[in-house]
Amino acid sequence: MEKSCKNYVIAIDGEAGTGKSTLAKNIAQKYGIVYLDTGAMYRCVTLTCIDKGIEPEDIEKINEVLKDITISFKKEGDKTIVICNGKDVTEEIRTPRVDSYVAKFAAIKEVRDKMTPLQRQMGKTTKVVMEGRDIGTVVFPDADVKIYLDCSEEERANRRYKQNLEKGIECTYEEVLTNIKERHKLETQRDIAPLTVAKDARYIDTTHLGLQEVEDLVVSIIREKVEL
Ligand code: DC
Repeated sequence: MEKSCKNYVIAIDGEAGTGKSTLAKNIAQKYGIVYLDTGAMYRCVTLTCIDKGIEPEDIEKINEVLKDITISFKKEGDKTIVICNGKDVTEEIRTPRVDSYVAKFAAIKEVRDKMTPLQRQMGKTTKVVMEGRDIGTVVFPDADVKIYLDCSEEERANRRYKQNLEKGIECTYEEVLTNIKERHKLETQRDIAPLTVAKDARYIDTTHLGLQEVEDLVVSIIREKVEL
């Protein structure tokens, strides 16, 4: 197959804790590609709604939030700052409070109808590595490269628990595992854009792989399709 060296989209999908973010960030940084964390966008919507006391059932109020919401990403050194409605929410969107609601807000049609075109827009004009749940299936079904990362629930909980501890976020392993299991159900069983492996995605089980092993494998897959 002919390799594309113009603009391209590398879609990385999979559940929380599969190592998607670290992988996508590392690849973006090493090869000078734009990184887009679409989960952060759903987290921004969730944070804005719960700060206003809006429940996931209140579609009318959610629509009001969606009408005005602005979400942008800013590079600061090797960090990406997430700005929502003019405020730096990078840390706040990662708290257990947002974790516990985000899958519910992300399952709402109106929310996805707003986020999907924004993501397409952000991916249209440059080389981008975009990570999420539906990038290879819905947002960019024609993505040049599609990767699907998987991992056992226990190992994913283990990784997320360690990350939380490092960030000083208080939680127990059991709480994290319960949240991961609930999110798995919500994300794979929702009506709109459920998490599923795209037919033409390369499936990688990372349960017993180190970060570097996954990165090496993914970089070799990307190189089969596009010029890094
Ligand atoms: O990747 P993450 O844990 O930050 O994602 C937050 C939530 O958003 C999670 O419940 C899955 C959802 N999500 C989604 O539905 N579609 C995406 N493209 C990205 C994330």
